Amino acid sequence: MERTFIAIKPDGVQRGLVGEILQRFERRGFKLVGLKFLQVSEALAQKHYAEHKERPFFGGLVAFITSSPVVAVVLEGKGVVATARAMMGVTNPLNSPLGTIRGDYGIDIGRNIIHGSDSLESAEREIALWFAPEELLEWQATLGSWVYE
Ligand code: RTP
Ligand code: MG
Repeated sequence: MERTFIAIKPDGVQRGLVGEILQRFERRGFKLVGLKFLQVSEALAQKHYAEHKERPFFGGLVAFITSSPVVAVVLEGKGVVATARAMMGVTNPLNSPLGTIRGDYGIDIGRNIIHGSDSLESAEREIALWFAPEELLEWQATLGSWVYE
């Protein structure tokens, strides 16, 4: 089954949106397989955002993600990589449709509340970067047969 990596960024945590965001994914039917609350190190931030290393906003991005705690999440489900991105909205919250997380709660691009892996390859890389294998739980979701046919 497909997995994705989600992070509720410092602004999402500070604004008290952790429960609200987790609830949206739970209600959609996605299964939680990893969850932790952490202060992101400089090294982790730089690795996570390595693809943006040459961009002018890289320094600010690393400073922001390390500025205050983050909630790291691994979700599992059919099509979860693309669907989680759709549920988040687009990078700029002002361009994100209402009903998406960024469209409902954000304004500025540098305060867009949530991160989600943008492809299966990114998801694999990010899950391995943020979680040790033993932190990802194999468990039977008893609701499974009411979500999937
Ligand atoms: P994310 O990686 O956080 O899920 O966001 P994303 O895929 O929608 O956007 P991405 O292009 O990967 O950019 C990563 C984060 O960098 C900030 N950003 N700032 N000032 C700018 O032009 C700019 N562009 C991107 C955003 O906070 C974005 O989430
Ligand atoms: Mg991205």
